[in-house]
Amino acid sequence: MHLPSVSCSPGISSSFATRPSASRCTTPSALKLEGILETPLNICVTCDRERFGPVVLGRTCQPDMDLFSTVCAVQNLWLAARAEGIGVGWVSIIHADQLSAILHLPRRVVPVAYLCLGHVDDFPLEPELQTAGWLPRLPLEDVLRFDTWDGKNPGNLSIGKK
Ligand SMILES: Cc1cc2nc3c(=O)[nH]c(=O)nc-3n(C[C@H](O)[C@H](O)[C@H](O)COP(=O)(O)O)c2cc1C
Repeated sequence: MHLPSVSCSPGISSSFATRPSASRCTTPSALKLEGILETPLNICVTCDRERFGPVVLGRTCQPDMDLFSTVCAVQNLWLAARAEGIGVGWVSIIHADQLSAILHLPRRVVPVAYLCLGHVDDFPLEPELQTAGWLPRLPLEDVLRFDTWDGKNPGNLSIGKK
């Protein structure tokens, strides 16, 4: 299945539906990963790191932008699904190299996100891990910084000039 790209980023490769066989899913017992088999649709969103060659607008200064663009596409897929009442779960407790082997991905293609999509019983008002007491939500003032990381004057702004 091919999904429309939400970005002009050349890296976003293919998003294809898949469903690995149950025997290949090694699951830590305390975590619910059964969604892989329960949900009607699994999507692996990939990023072709070599699409259009080594010099691509948008990746000249920061080569990882193709990966970030792919993650943005995942977020858009997620929001669109939620708007349609469909739940999305990102399964990251999978070793990327094992996933690549299962899906026969070429080396240049990175499996960015393995997603389980389907109808869910309800949408909790807050993240389930927060409800379960795994970690609290951080206060906004703890994660916002202004001007510089340490709040001190940025000083000389001629970065990179000699
Ligand atoms: C980058 C990322 C990785 C995640 N990895 C996992 C995971 O490995 N296992 C899991 O149960 N949930 C994981 N989650 C959480 C669920 O995908 C998701 O938060 C949950 O299904 C609730 O979805 P909602 O926020 O749309 O309500 C991950 C979320 C993100 C953003």
